[in-house]
Amino acid sequence: MSTHVTDPARPLAGKVALITGTAGAQGRAAALLFAERGARIAGSDIDPQGNEQTAALVRAAGGEMLATAPADISAPEGAQAWIDAAVGAFGRIDVLYNNASAPRFGTPPDVTPEDWAFSNRHEIDIVWFPTHAAWPHLVAAGGGSIINVGSVSAIRVTRAFPQLPHGTAKGAVQSMTIHLAAAGGPHRIRANVILPGLTMGASTDRLFATPDGPGHHIAAGNPLGRVGLPDDVAKLAAFLASEDAFYLNGAAIPLDGGQSIVA
Ligand SMILES: NC(=O)c1ccc[n+]([C@@H]2O[C@H](COP(=O)([O-])OP(=O)(O)OC[C@H]3O[C@@H](n4cnc5c(N)ncnc54)[C@H](O)[C@@H]3O)[C@@H](O)[C@H]2O)c1
Repeated sequence: MSTHVTDPARPLAGKVALITGTAGAQGRAAALLFAERGARIAGSDIDPQGNEQTAALVRAAGGEMLATAPADISAPEGAQAWIDAAVGAFGRIDVLYNNASAPRFGTPPDVTPEDWAFSNRHEIDIVWFPTHAAWPHLVAAGGGSIINVGSVSAIRVTRAFPQLPHGTAKGAVQSMTIHLAAAGGPHRIRANVILPGLTMGASTDRLFATPDGPGHHIAAGNPLGRVGLPDDVAKLAAFLASEDAFYLNGAAIPLDGGQSIVA
């Protein structure tokens, strides 16, 4: 893997970036930004319409995106089929951005066995199966970057918004990341995990639906006075995907405006 970047405006030029959940807020922002910075994109989602909209936006901006949907990448077969399609189209994998998830929230008495199983499948399996399927291709490429998405909820409790299954599963993603980082190092495969705080998107709109909703309370308590935007996450992910981040491996990076360091 070269550390030589020829065009600073297109630090991802020549790279093939696989992104999960590209119909969603952060996945769409990442597909657009990665493409703008030179990557070819293979995006997957369970939502074909939203995924195709993202692909149309990428293409309208002059980028290239293979959109695979519906793809349930929380199952081994779905993950493998998507990885096969991406390698079939582009011949290699340089970046795997495990962004997709479907969270469940709640306090201990509220969480049902179904919530628990759903959460583990749609937050942990959904990272592991694409990673397992992509691994031999990353090795074959001589290295690459795995970008996982955890959550500040894995390391900090927000009393206004209980999220036991989600926080627990994201803790597992964070732990998985260090094991991937250690195993990948000799192959020049790096693995890092972004821990977003509350970030705008369809999945969080309801927290802002009323003036006293928890979203407003969380924004008011943030040192920077707002919650995150999908682009905030995409920009960090683009850096992690780039050669400039070559020596960053096994890191868990909170991305929350400093929310998690204040009481
Ligand atoms: N939004 C936040 O406040 C916040 C905070 C911390 C962490 N995160 C994490 O950031 C990531 C992106 O969040 P977002 O706000 O963009 O969410 P989002 O709901 O907008 O996007 C997630 C996407 O994943 C897709 N998806 C779900 N299950 C799938 C499956 N089985 N197979 C394929 N695709 C599937 C959904 O269809 C959706 O398009 C997630 O991992 C989320 O847990 C979000």
